[in-house]
Amino acid sequence: MKFFVDTADTDAIRELAELGMVDGVTTNPSLIMKSGRDIREVTREICEIVSGPVSAETVALDAEGMIAEGRELAKIADNIAIKVPLTWDGLKACKVLSGEGRMVNVTLCFSANQALLAAKAGATFISPFIGRLDDINLDGMSLIADIRQIYDNYGFQTEILAASIRSVNHMAEAAKIGADVATAPPAVIKAMASHPLTDRGLEGFLKDWAKTGQKIL
Ligand code: E4P
Repeated sequence: MKFFVDTADTDAIRELAELGMVDGVTTNPSLIMKSGRDIREVTREICEIVSGPVSAETVALDAEGMIAEGRELAKIADNIAIKVPLTWDGLKACKVLSGEGRMVNVTLCFSANQALLAAKAGATFISPFIGRLDDINLDGMSLIADIRQIYDNYGFQTEILAASIRSVNHMAEAAKIGADVATAPPAVIKAMASHPLTDRGLEGFLKDWAKTGQKIL
């Protein structure tokens, strides 16, 4: 499973990229707002750090506007994936932009039918939002499983980009189902390294090591 980082925080991206944990980045208008930076400037910097797909989101509501904004955002760098919402106009924009050979990430997907339409419209990535479905007492992870099954039934090449990931359990579950990509905040990716038994084991080993009086260096 590829790891995308869901942030516009370039320091956090850099830290994870140095460890080889970043295959791409996703941003959205809220994350750009949180960064407090200009969209072009921060997105360009991200594209310099990461060679994989970097999603930059359009904000127009009509297809024409999304297409124009998508072409503009694509000028930032060659690895831009244009993010459009899963609306009827978003699907039209996806069809045109993907037809131009651009990467398109169709976002705000909350149903299997929406994912099916995005694949038919030539999306490079479909972004089903797990956490936001869980927030309203629906099962976000079962949507990932449903889309996996549907895409595999028909050999769609659109990559399932599990999004709105809120916990380390979401990461493991998405990987078990076979999501192609998971995008998660840096804190969730770092938390994947933690386990209380690792901490307890380390503490025990260090106590015993101190009793030996030895040094390695
Ligand atoms: C994905 O591309 C979105 O930016 C993101 O995963 C949304 O996550 P949230 O629901 O935690 O805001």
